[in-house]
Amino acid sequence: MRREISLNINGTLHTATVPDRMLLVQFIRDVVGLKGTHIGCDTGHCGACTVIMDGVAVKSCLILAVQADGSNVMTIEGLSKEGKLDEIQEAFRDEFAVQCGYCTPGFIMLLHSLKLRGVGMSDDDIKDALVGNICRCNGYPLILRAARRILGRRQVG
Ligand code: FES
Ligand code: FES
Repeated sequence: MRREISLNINGTLHTATVPDRMLLVQFIRDVVGLKGTHIGCDTGHCGACTVIMDGVAVKSCLILAVQADGSNVMTIEGLSKEGKLDEIQEAFRDEFAVQCGYCTPGFIMLLHSLKLRGVGMSDDDIKDALVGNICRCNGYPLILRAARRILGRRQVG
């Protein structure tokens, strides 16, 4: 079965007729052509495919494209504005939190979703939040430093 779906991705409406079994990550990469959302495990374990759907971070390999019909999706390509890096991207650059970079878009989109919530986070909170994203290069200490710059400064009592 194929169905016509329309998704707003990074502010642009994309309409296509897709197979029912197509994953959201495949729609983003293969139909829309945005390759910044990576496929790692394809089973919901690594977080490389994390995007923001209607304000919430989701693993786009766990969602069918047809389930995302009518939603607003933000990918890593939607984060920088007018060629200027977002502050999370700047933090990753400044803290050298990127090695091979394969996991990086997923981490950044997850952190962006946490930032949207506007809550202060302790280091333990941040570690708990990042548990679903895997870095095969073991860049966790530097990723934590970058995350702390964005999320740790709004400490709550
Ligand atoms: S590719 Fe989606 S969680 Fe790994
Ligand atoms: S930087 Fe290589 S997987 Fe994270």
